Amino acid sequence: MTALLGVELAGRAVLVVGGGPVAARRAQALADEGALVRVVAPHVCEPLADLVVAGGARWSDREVAETDLDDVWLVHTATGDRATDAAVVAWATARRVFCVDAGGPRRPAAGTARTPATTHAGDVLVGVVSAAGADPRRSVEVRDRLAAHLRAGDVDLRRRRATAGQGRVVLVGGGPGDVDLLTVAGRRALAEADVVVADRLGPVDVLDQLPADVEVVDVGKSPGHHPVPQDEINRLLVEQAQRGRVVVRLKGGDPFVYGRGGEEVLACRAAGVPVSVVPGVSSAFAAAAAAGVPLTHRGVVGAVHVMNGTDGWSAAALTGLRDRSCTVVVLMGVAALPGLVRDALAGGVDPDVPVAVVERATLPDQRVTHAPLHEVAAVAAARGVRAPAVVVVGHVAAPDLLTPTVADPAPELVDEVDVTPPAPVTMDA
Ligand SMILES: C[S@@+](CC[C@H](N)C(=O)[O-])C[C@H]1O[C@@H](n2cnc3c(N)ncnc32)[C@H](O)[C@@H]1O
Repeated sequence: MTALLGVELAGRAVLVVGGGPVAARRAQALADEGALVRVVAPHVCEPLADLVVAGGARWSDREVAETDLDDVWLVHTATGDRATDAAVVAWATARRVFCVDAGGPRRPAAGTARTPATTHAGDVLVGVVSAAGADPRRSVEVRDRLAAHLRAGDVDLRRRRATAGQGRVVLVGGGPGDVDLLTVAGRRALAEADVVVADRLGPVDVLDQLPADVEVVDVGKSPGHHPVPQDEINRLLVEQAQRGRVVVRLKGGDPFVYGRGGEEVLACRAAGVPVSVVPGVSSAFAAAAAAGVPLTHRGVVGAVHVMNGTDGWSAAALTGLRDRSCTVVVLMGVAALPGLVRDALAGGVDPDVPVAVVERATLPDQRVTHAPLHEVAAVAAARGVRAPAVVVVGHVAAPDLLTPTVADPAPELVDEVDVTPPAPVTMDA
């Protein structure tokens, strides 16, 4: 009969016997948990040597001796030598110290403990072992299914027991708007949230999928209208976290691309509140892709310049457009478009350079407007183009760029390739 325990290893001595790849993996995992890892082996493989050099483990380069087990809480033996592993298991058993035996290709593990196949979701740790006899492949299969379920954000991961003083803030980049473009990490962060501080842009539909008792604070901004000032948002994040809550700051696109995420991180750090950032799919890149515009294209252009339309052209952006060396992506550029066009033409940019304006990219009502630079402001006005929109300027924005011509032959068919999946990681030894 096997019981699954959560064992606190931080600061506790653990012995790893053996110097090969299995021992290295075990030692690394133990070091990651904060255990004081002692390795005993005449030789160690490179990853284990690296761990020792990095200070994650202490190495005695000799054969193991019974006295090595004198003051340790746990033993892992993975020497690959049947007699040595058996001796280590016997010494540990005599001392009432649990011992994990990695076993070998033709030898089942004989220790008194087994390593579960584990997966983390935030501070939730899930472990899988077989109750009767090791079955590593099955444990890994079950673990992977559970991990996928947790990653999908389907499980409410909020703490039920209060953790005073352990609040934190997670800045989540929600992507341009389509909920499918919210990352797995973003979804998982939302599954842990007690409170979500949300913007007007981004995957707002995901808010409807949150449990009813998750508090949602709308601090959404629209152009020219800022319902909640940034200082107030910063104060709110800090105050909620200081109440011990997990606060997700859900932002459109990526938090660090014109998202004022840096200011929010600074505010949290200044207040001593733990803060982390989940990157998001920025509209700076996603809008063009969603509209079928490749920001770089072999033989056309190989660089991208992203700018804020309200700041006007930088010298670098104008130079890049004049000499066709980069595509320019303009965020917050709808109201500024007439002025941008005027200044670009005055700055010597080709009046016929193609422009694409992508409104509400990735959302069901996405709309793309194509026009040459000298006409785009008038065309956009006539079509009633509104924010949020991304303006792409450059030859990659030509509407027919990706329309095949006779000069672009279809690729030849290739034989099927054998893609045998790699063997699963062996655990539950
Ligand atoms: C304050 S910036 C935030 C940018 C965001 N952090 C990002 O990485 O996408 C707001 C601007 O992003 C652009 N934007 C955001 N979402 C968009 C979308 N779905 N479609 C088009 N433009 C979008 C617009 O230019 C909008 O004015």
